[in-house]
Amino acid sequence: MNPSARYDTHQLRALDARHHLHPFTVFKELAQKGARIITRARGCWIEDSEGRRYLDGMAGLWCVNLGYGEPRLIEAARAQLEELPYYNTFFQCATPPAVELAAAISGLLPQGFDSVFFASSGSEANDTAIKAIWYYWNLAGRPEKKLIISRRRAYHGVGLGSGSLSGLAPMHAPFDLPLARFHHIEDPYWYREGRHLSPEAFGREAARRLEEAILRLGPEKVAAFFGEPVQGAGGVIVPPPGYWPEVERICRRYDVLLVSDEVICGLGRTGRRWGFETCGFTPDIVTMAKGLTSGYQPLAAVAFGPRVAAALLESDLEFAHGGTWAGHPVACRVALETLAVMEERRLFTRAGSSPGKRFARRLHQLAQHPLVGEVRVLGMLAAIELVADKRHGTPFAPEHKAGIRCRELALAHGLVMRAIGDVMVLAPPLVLAEEEIDELARRAEATLDALAHVLRQDGVWP
Ligand SMILES: Cc1ncc(COP(=O)(O)O)c(C=O)c1O
Repeated sequence: MNPSARYDTHQLRALDARHHLHPFTVFKELAQKGARIITRARGCWIEDSEGRRYLDGMAGLWCVNLGYGEPRLIEAARAQLEELPYYNTFFQCATPPAVELAAAISGLLPQGFDSVFFASSGSEANDTAIKAIWYYWNLAGRPEKKLIISRRRAYHGVGLGSGSLSGLAPMHAPFDLPLARFHHIEDPYWYREGRHLSPEAFGREAARRLEEAILRLGPEKVAAFFGEPVQGAGGVIVPPPGYWPEVERICRRYDVLLVSDEVICGLGRTGRRWGFETCGFTPDIVTMAKGLTSGYQPLAAVAFGPRVAAALLESDLEFAHGGTWAGHPVACRVALETLAVMEERRLFTRAGSSPGKRFARRLHQLAQHPLVGEVRVLGMLAAIELVADKRHGTPFAPEHKAGIRCRELALAHGLVMRAIGDVMVLAPPLVLAEEEIDELARRAEATLDALAHVLRQDGVWP
């Protein structure tokens, strides 16, 4: 029997409201409204407990890159569960999947990225990277080098360290974050902050903010800079060309370690294996999660480039860090199969080849819509920014909740889009078929038309 068939939708909603606290949620608001219960999925489509189907424009949460129901991943998990469902990687033990996956990840990265540490979420991966950086500078005899810089609107997770790295206001004040060693600079958000300059000039200006921050804090105290190649949960902020090479130059100049958070951008999302390849820089440390198992298992990893790895490997000091699930064999086996399928079906580059170009073309057509200020697309990562006044790019007043209404209307049109403020975000499975790309664009356009209608009816839009 399908276990979810024990309860009907009404009962599940009531139990959910009574017992289940959801991430990033106003609990009392959701308890009143009731959660949408997702019960099954196939390919790029999900289905709720009331039988409605939606095209999943968000690949779950930027992760189900191979789509749902992929038999290869299901069989990999099943076989590993049968053979060895769990063993840890503490006390000088290893399991074949963990060893093979560490080698496979290293093989996908630039030369010298030979050392991989496993965790179970992107947050943990970034917390691991932060601790490894502090550990590194202590080993290097420079214990004063501890400050970490990231950006406004960054999202690096929810741990005390990774949450401090994140640059979204609601994640900070209520939790007394960020911790003292974390500093934020402006992000390279050309449409909102830089339209008085060309994108290239604004990109240089945004990179210069990093140099200013390093000089203000003191280069001898700055340990690292963390960035997502494209800021995802901040609103799919695609950096102007030239931004990242300049950031890399500045990091090198002041001996600041550079971390590429590839939790969203890694493994094909931007049209190449890694976001840093697409954006033109080489980091010292790479963190990854999400697409590593196509979302079928919780798994994350931190890969260390030659400089940090050499220090870790030569140290006599214990690296006293790591969790019960580090290198979980089932998760690692599923990740190995994910990478194999990605390679066989050429999915690492699909978002950069003809289907990705079709996705970009179809979404860019939506820029004509009177509600749309800007469409940003890189690979299969896209943002549709809603504005009250197209000519001047004026945003809607927050109380009009244009983004949230758009998200609800999208669902009514059978499409999952995420609203980040008034930026509608798309990151569909990388296997999205050409007809599904067209279907997604049609549904997005119908959603925008419906939004225009309701905003007009409410008198908040001409
Ligand atoms: C770029 C980035 N880093 C880190 C994280 C945190 O990952 P997790 O939710 O697995 O902790 C996310 C999650 O969305 C992310 O987008």
